[in-house]
Amino acid sequence: MPDISQRANKLGTENAFVVLAEVTALARQGKDIISFCIGQPDFPAPENVQEAAIRAIRSGKHGYTPSAGIDELREAAARYLGARRGGLPIRPEDVVAGAGAKPFIAYAILSTTDYGAGDEVIYPNPGFPIYESQIIANGAKPVPIHLHEAKDFSFDINELEKLISNKTKLLILNYPHNPTGGCLSKAELLEIGELLEKHPQIWVYADEIYSRLVYGSDFFSIAQVPGMYERTIISDGASKTWAMTGWRLGFTANPKLAPVFTRWITNTESCASQISQWAAVEAINGPQQAAQVPVLALEPGLLQLRQPAQSPEPG
Ligand SMILES: Cc1ncc(COP(=O)(O)O)c(C=O)c1O
Repeated sequence: MPDISQRANKLGTENAFVVLAEVTALARQGKDIISFCIGQPDFPAPENVQEAAIRAIRSGKHGYTPSAGIDELREAAARYLGARRGGLPIRPEDVVAGAGAKPFIAYAILSTTDYGAGDEVIYPNPGFPIYESQIIANGAKPVPIHLHEAKDFSFDINELEKLISNKTKLLILNYPHNPTGGCLSKAELLEIGELLEKHPQIWVYADEIYSRLVYGSDFFSIAQVPGMYERTIISDGASKTWAMTGWRLGFTANPKLAPVFTRWITNTESCASQISQWAAVEAINGPQQAAQVPVLALEPGLLQLRQPAQSPEPG
């Protein structure tokens, strides 16, 4: 029997998906299961989004699309990402759509480090397990930065400074953070930006997939920090904001890396599902009520969750 590569043998995983497979198998056997395995909305994607997907199917939108995505989605996502990040000048050609936000973690590592060259990637720990597994699988050196409960699951900027070397090529940030829910404040992001000014060789992967799940303050991206826009890979998508985890649609923006990510997609997935792309156009451009986080409203005697009024803004 031929061997399996060392790389494949050692490839990490995301246990949530391992348990999801077990739970699904038990449910198929008729077991009554309450699943705590994977973090995803337990309500469907908004109806207007479902209708857009059905329209796409019925109108024959069944083929491949350009690897970076359909123009309509790149335009909508560019407008959306920029508008939600202080008016950043994101152009449609800076945006690439993929089969979820997840593949861009690997594409970012592959595009900023060289295999076996000792290039280092700093990533949050605890954190989304795919960061570490992809860093290792792609031949870079994983350098964890520890999050501290006492700092509301943020890290110490002095620790970050100590971890940076001239081999550091990529810093992965995730805010709001999976699994702790911690968020990096604007002040912390400004400090990180100031530190990175001294290390121009470092790219930042800003995993902002939970950017619409911020409570109590406005979302602020490291890409908004002066000098950081060009070197920040903004990663967001439809999974969490519009309850579309299984539709597999993410989008990432960076002016220099967009053509590079496009080539990775041509080499791997070819393109994201055309149907999901049209659905995402509607998700971004359509009514936003389903995507709004509930505002905390203090009623006499009890704290209640209340849906905000429908937002007139496009995203
Ligand atoms: C931190 C983080 N990044 C990325 C992803 C991937 O999102 P997607 O479903 O769009 O691939 C997830 C999904 O759980 C996540 O938690």
